[in-house]
Amino acid sequence: MADAKKPARNSGGGADDEIQDLMRVAHAAAVLAHSPYSKIQVGAALVSTSGEIFTGCNVENASFGLTICAERAAVAKAVAAGVTTFRTLAIASSQPHPLMPCGACRQVLREFATDLVIHVQGREGPRVDTTLAELLPRSFGPSDLG
Ligand code: THU
Repeated sequence: MADAKKPARNSGGGADDEIQDLMRVAHAAAVLAHSPYSKIQVGAALVSTSGEIFTGCNVENASFGLTICAERAAVAKAVAAGVTTFRTLAIASSQPHPLMPCGACRQVLREFATDLVIHVQGREGPRVDTTLAELLPRSFGPSDLG
């Protein structure tokens, strides 16, 4: 079983076994979720352009609106480590279907990557392979401020 707490690397080649490996890291991260309210566990495994993997899980709060999604937790972890460019994101959850990233997470990811490849899988069943450009078309980003 992949260990979400252990630093890992990924070559990001996109071959199916590499995607499966990355999904396993995301599933391992989901197990660490703090989600006593929704009971939904979400894990993210974000791969930097140099192949480093940053994991995140959802962190809920008794003040519900303060909940942090798994994807944004992974982004924050990477940025705090000095890493701000990414190529791939795997999202796993305890739901039976692929739990797609929420709109807020799509925009936060957009801050750091326009050409991000995204793989999404529930606890069983099919995997959705998509891109951030597909999930957030005609997006607003840093260059709009220039
Ligand atoms: N959640 C995520 O972690 N990522 C998303 O993109 C969608 C939702 C979490 C937040 C909350 O803990 C639970 O799923 C139900 O909304």
